[in-house]
Amino acid sequence: MRNIHEGDGKAEVRERPENPFFGKDLLSAEQLNPENLSYLFQFLPVMERIHLGSVPCNLLEGKIMVPLFFEPSSRTRLSHQTAMLQLGGKVNSMEDPNIYSSFAKGANFQDEIHTFALMGDLIVIRHPEVGSAQKAAEASHIPVINAGDGTGEHPSQALLDVATIWKRFGRLDGLTVVFGGDILNGRTIHSLVQVLAQFGNNRFIFVSPKELGLPQDLAKQLQEKEVKIEQLDSFDVKLQEADVWYWTRIQKERFEDPTLYDTLKDRFIITPEILQKFAAQAMILMHPFPRVNEITFDVDSDPRAVYLHEQMRNGIYSRMALIAAILEDDLTPEAIIDSVPPRFQHVFRDFDEDEVKQPVLRATK
Ligand code: NCD
Repeated sequence: MRNIHEGDGKAEVRERPENPFFGKDLLSAEQLNPENLSYLFQFLPVMERIHLGSVPCNLLEGKIMVPLFFEPSSRTRLSHQTAMLQLGGKVNSMEDPNIYSSFAKGANFQDEIHTFALMGDLIVIRHPEVGSAQKAAEASHIPVINAGDGTGEHPSQALLDVATIWKRFGRLDGLTVVFGGDILNGRTIHSLVQVLAQFGNNRFIFVSPKELGLPQDLAKQLQEKEVKIEQLDSFDVKLQEADVWYWTRIQKERFEDPTLYDTLKDRFIITPEILQKFAAQAMILMHPFPRVNEITFDVDSDPRAVYLHEQMRNGIYSRMALIAAILEDDLTPEAIIDSVPPRFQHVFRDFDEDEVKQPVLRATK
């Protein structure tokens, strides 16, 4: 793809990479390889300014998102919707499709997805079954974003998670990452691991009750990719070596035995004392949210806790970049800025050229 810039009356031709997301589904975090991430990251600073400045933008004018949430959601649903609205698109939303769609009358999945796909340009789906987003994509002629398929994956969460890590550390390789809580059922962990495993020299430490350890298929995949992993069932001083702690709630709704949930739910609670004893000063503490009881409120004011601010905000900017890339082939930071009316262009006036350059993500193994 070529992008032509007018400068000094002469046309300057700059090579632009292909848009790897245009017209595609996002079903697995495996798709978020170093090259594709670097493509999306170039749009984050522009998206951030648009959102923080409440700037109108008509980039996605005429486009419609259809969110289909069969499971509860706060951040994922609203941040996808906010992203769409912020870029000038519209949202065609149905309240709980389990109750209000024809699923309640026994309709089959394929027919309903086929129908919903006729109502818009992009489906965002969350569903309790592993593989449901893949099934939806097969029945849909418009792109599908997997916003969580049971205990499977949650790739757009992984996108915002790596954006948060990258913005803080300037790299996605050579990191030690601790994953804590429900490793077995936590789809955000499954997806984040899939992305970070594509970068060199990353080391993962999983901390969980034994019953909620790494699923075997994921352990096998990591082994094949020669990622260094350790599994612990208690806090340990070696956690001080970590750059990132990624904490999660125990996923109550995935338990068949409620008494087992009660036994395990409070095993790994992060408190200021735990951080003091086991965490480095330069680390960051992340959490996809919702938080139930696994990080105490007095941790929130620790500068290392990024879950309430940076991480959640990055969810909006990352989803703006992702949705724009899926729906607009010829996407450039300049094209996004051009879709903002002149009255609001001042928001970009002090924009540094380097800020909108495509970043280089070192990935070598
Ligand atoms: C997570 C999810 O739904 O997988 N939340 C989110 O999307 N940010 C995590 C969870 O439910 O524990």
